[in-house]
This record gives sequence, C-alpha cells and structure tokens, in this order.
Amino acid sequence: MADVTEIRLIDPEGDSRPAETIEAAIAAPGMHHAEVRYAYGADCLPGPEEQGAGIWRYRGLLPLGPGPVRYPLPVGGTPLLAPPGLRAALGTPELYLKDETRGPSGSNKDRATALVLEYGLRRGVAAATCASTGNVASSLALGAAAAGMRAYVFVPAEVSDAKLRLMLLAGAEVFRVEQGYEAAFRLSRAAARAFGWLDRNTGVNPLTVEAKKTVAFEIWEQLGRSLPDVVVAPIGDGPTLAALAKGFRELQACGATSRVPRLIGVQSEGCAPVYSAWRGAARAIGGAPGTIAEGIAVPEPVSLFVVQRDVRESGGTILAVPDEEILAAIPALLSGAGVCAEPAGAAAYAGLQRAVAAGLVERGERIVTLVTGSGFKTPQYLRPLRTTRSIRGELAEVVAALT
Ligand SMILES: Cc1ncc(COP(=O)(O)O)c(C=O)c1O
Repeated sequence: MADVTEIRLIDPEGDSRPAETIEAAIAAPGMHHAEVRYAYGADCLPGPEEQGAGIWRYRGLLPLGPGPVRYPLPVGGTPLLAPPGLRAALGTPELYLKDETRGPSGSNKDRATALVLEYGLRRGVAAATCASTGNVASSLALGAAAAGMRAYVFVPAEVSDAKLRLMLLAGAEVFRVEQGYEAAFRLSRAAARAFGWLDRNTGVNPLTVEAKKTVAFEIWEQLGRSLPDVVVAPIGDGPTLAALAKGFRELQACGATSRVPRLIGVQSEGCAPVYSAWRGAARAIGGAPGTIAEGIAVPEPVSLFVVQRDVRESGGTILAVPDEEILAAIPALLSGAGVCAEPAGAAAYAGLQRAVAAGLVERGERIVTLVTGSGFKTPQYLRPLRTTRSIRGELAEVVAALT
C-alpha cells in the first residue's frame, strides 16, 4: 500500500480541515466528504500480468495495509459491456455500460461495504451502521451477515419494499425514519458515536470513496489501459461520481494516463440540489424529494462542493432529467443491453440520451455510462412495453401468431 500523505474533510460549502488518521476521519463529527491522498507512483497500480480480483486488485491505492483479505463476498470486477442494441439505438458506436448491478446486493454500494467491513474485521468490530435511501442499507445488511457482524440501518419511511425485505431477511436492525433521509443520516452518525458502531456512512467515511474509486481503475484496465472520452454517472450524495473522478486523477498521478475523462453527473429533476447549485441557485439544498429514483433522492448532499469541483475540473457538466425519462431508460437498458436497472441505476443512461440530443456528447466519442443499481429490487418500476400471448398449448397457435 502507498503511504497516506493527507486526509481532508471537505464540507458541503467547500471549507476543509485535516484529519490525522483514517480512524480520526471516520470518527470526526459533522457532514463532510473525506478525501485521502497517497504518495503516488507507478508501482501503486497492478501490472497487466498481475493477479488479483475485484476491488482488492487495487490495494496499492487502498488504505488497508498488508495481510489477507477476510471479507468473504466477491466485490468489484464488474463487466464493461459493449451493447450492440443500445449502441445502434442511440447511434453511439463506442458506448459502454459499466454494469454495477452485479454486486452481492445488486448495487455499486457493495464496493464501499466491502472495504469498510474489511477494515472492521481487522479491528474486531462487532457492529456497523449507515443511513440509506435503500441500497446502502441492503448492501450493509448482506455484507454484515456474511462477515458475522450486526448491522443497524436507518432508512426513510418510504423505502422500497424489496430493499426493506432484504435488510430484514439478512438480520439487520432497521429503523424507518419518518423525517426522511437527512434525519436518518444524522441519526446514524449520532448512534455510531453513542454505541461505538462502525460508521459506514457514505462520503463521511473515507473508505466509502476509496472503494468506489476502483470503478475508474477497472474502466481503464477494461479499455486496454486507456481512457474513455466521457463518463456519465448519477449523483445522489455525490461520492459515486467524486470517487470516479478521484480514481481517474490517481491514474494520472501514478503516471498511467495524461488526462481525466469529461464527467457528466445526472440528477433527477424531482430532487436536484447539485444541479441547482451548478446552475447558480443561491440556496440549492433542502425540500422533500419528489422522484421515483430513490437512490439519488438526497436533498442535502454530503459531497455538494466536491462533486461540482470534480465535474468542473474535468470539463464536464451536470444535468437533471425528469422521472419519465428515467422510467423510459429502464426498458431501453433491458432491451438494448440485457441490463436490469432500478430508476437511480438507469438515471445516467437517461442523462446520456439528453446529453447526446443536446450535443454535449458527440456520437462518435468513447462513452462509459454507469448502471449503479439492479431493478430486481424495484419490481414496481419494471413496466413491460409488450404483452404476453395467451395460447392453449398447440404449435399451430404459435405458427398462427407469428405468421
Ligand atoms: C442505485 C444508486 N445509484 C446512485 C446512487 C447515488 O450515489 P451517491 O450517493 O454516491 O451519489 C445511489 C445511492 O444510494 C444508488 O442507490
């Protein structure tokens, strides 16, 4: 592992303060996005011949230290798909999907859960906590069950039913918070301090960002150690996109690449505080979320400042799309790529369609779009455009129907 040279805690307005250690950063109170820097060098990254699967392949740039990995679930190493149907439909011959629906709980949150619980296992931690719009809590519940830990999760009262069932079945203690996600976030952090639980909250725990940045390393390796022109990702609290940016910056700092791809962040119009701030709104945060994309329904994003900084530095932009376009992206991804996404997971593709139509992305560019969450957990949004054919059971009926 490369030496950690600096840890900064950056609040949503952009003010920052240092933290001495990972432990101190996790324990630090308040709302901030934690950023770790290392002594970068070419040997921090795995060579093309080097073995190692999933996120642990990149442990040279994870604050983990030596020793075998104990976390039992395989995480990371998700496919980079080159879907012919979707490429043809959108007229984008160099489009790729990074399919993050393949984790143990079906979302990109599984990367962060793995690194946080690995850290916990190494310290003999017995319990972990998080706030969540649904996926982080499902991920922590499954991960804790696999690692032999307790999970205490705080979710908004209107959380999706299937996600809730997963948490409960995995044995998590679930608190449904009537006051919504922001209250759940503060409560989870306060409870972590009160009970000594490991705080897995997104962004504030630096390990969540460190784990998610491995997506950038994988994209680079999967494209034959080269970069795409554009990467499109959803924004909720912001760490998914900020981690992606960090991963690409670190590739550059290690001398592996000479630039960072343009980043396009996508929010839902029903809850778009980062988009509003990007467009210059004076008071961008607050208000109850009104979107089907619950994973990105975050009224007061932890990484509000960081994510805008990263998008700006990349030369990209931030978009907001209406729920109808997010909903329409679900069958598009299924029929054009065989990937089943939940609304928040399909939002980036909806954003890409807008970006292409607006000329923000050239059709010939090499584009990677993240699909961050599986639609298997939100069956209420799987709405087929076709109907079935009811038959008695004779071949003649099939022939008649198809000719
Ligand atoms: C499926 C899905 N996509 C995207 C996001 C947004 O990620 P972030 O909060 O890191 O911006 C979430 C967050 O829960 C999610 O569940």
